[in-house]
Amino acid sequence: MSSLPPVGRLRWTDVPAPLRARLEACFDAPVTNAVTPAGGFGHQLAAALTLADGRRFFVKAAPTEDPLTVANLHESVVLSSLPPGAPAPDLVGVHHTADWTAVVIAHLDGPHPDLSPDSSDPGQLWALLDKLTSSAAPPPYTAAVAATPSGAASLHGWDVLLANPPGDLEPDVRHRLHELAELEAAWPGLAHGDRIVHGDLRADNMVRDLHLGVTFVDWAHATTGPACIDAVSLAPQLVLAGHTPQDVARLLDEHPASATEPLASTAFLAALTGHWHRNARLPSPPGAPGLRAYQQRAAAAGLTLLGPRLR
Ligand SMILES: Nc1ncnc2c1ncn2[C@@H]1O[C@H](COP(=O)(O)OP(=O)(O)OP(=O)(O)O)[C@@H](O)[C@H]1O
Ligand SMILES: [Mg+2]
Repeated sequence: MSSLPPVGRLRWTDVPAPLRARLEACFDAPVTNAVTPAGGFGHQLAAALTLADGRRFFVKAAPTEDPLTVANLHESVVLSSLPPGAPAPDLVGVHHTADWTAVVIAHLDGPHPDLSPDSSDPGQLWALLDKLTSSAAPPPYTAAVAATPSGAASLHGWDVLLANPPGDLEPDVRHRLHELAELEAAWPGLAHGDRIVHGDLRADNMVRDLHLGVTFVDWAHATTGPACIDAVSLAPQLVLAGHTPQDVARLLDEHPASATEPLASTAFLAALTGHWHRNARLPSPPGAPGLRAYQQRAAAAGLTLLGPRLR
């Protein structure tokens, strides 16, 4: 019945029976199929459930004591506080049963967007980011994220590498370590703002829905901050998808979300790249076998964009 998870995720049948029964009672129909989508690095249940009557729902679930439950609950309050028209699915409900917590979200129907240069999806993405960040976040959203510290604001890595430079560090990176650490150190002071920030924009955290178009999912890291955070996060993803660093650098220079905040954009790009570069060298966490290789590729992409912004 359940398809095998691609990255060691929990499956629908791993969820305690009382929680499965509770969800089926709320849906008023039995679950006939559960598909774990490809993408992401988490270990929790994240599955598209099909019901006997054909309806579909997306469910994320983990033991209540698992730190991912805090993230899922944060996502649930974010989803219910985003302004109308935000590129996000609707929250359906939250259930606590048998020491597990499940968050049920409207199902989006489609693949991840194609971020390659041949696709029209990147253009749609930049337009969505412009719309999302062109005005201040509405008060319900600001209140929803107020109690959760911003993960983006605390990203760093060059400081750690500078304190103890690994022997195999590329010579041009070693040469720039002081400057990179300095830029990164400026980031927390620039990380404040009143805009909606998704905080984890990658192709696998978006779905190109048949009806809604490109829609952002996985709002677990959502926060408020400067408009540039999501635009800068997207930039290395586009390089990884085949865009030239020159084209992406030009987009960052021109897009309203990043063009208006060049210092914060550079400092955040340094912090994000440092985070990737440092973490890529750590042992693989359980249940996320692809994470370190991804961070290595992302760090290299980030550095190609950072190069022209350095002294
Ligand atoms: N509402 C939805 N409808 C359909 N598919 C979805 C929906 N939300 C997420 N997905 C798909 O499920 C995958 C996992 O979801 P999500 O990213 O929210 O889980 P996660 O465990 O928080 O992920 P991560 O591993 O990135 O931490 C996404 O990559 C996406 O393909
Ligand atoms: Mg995800």
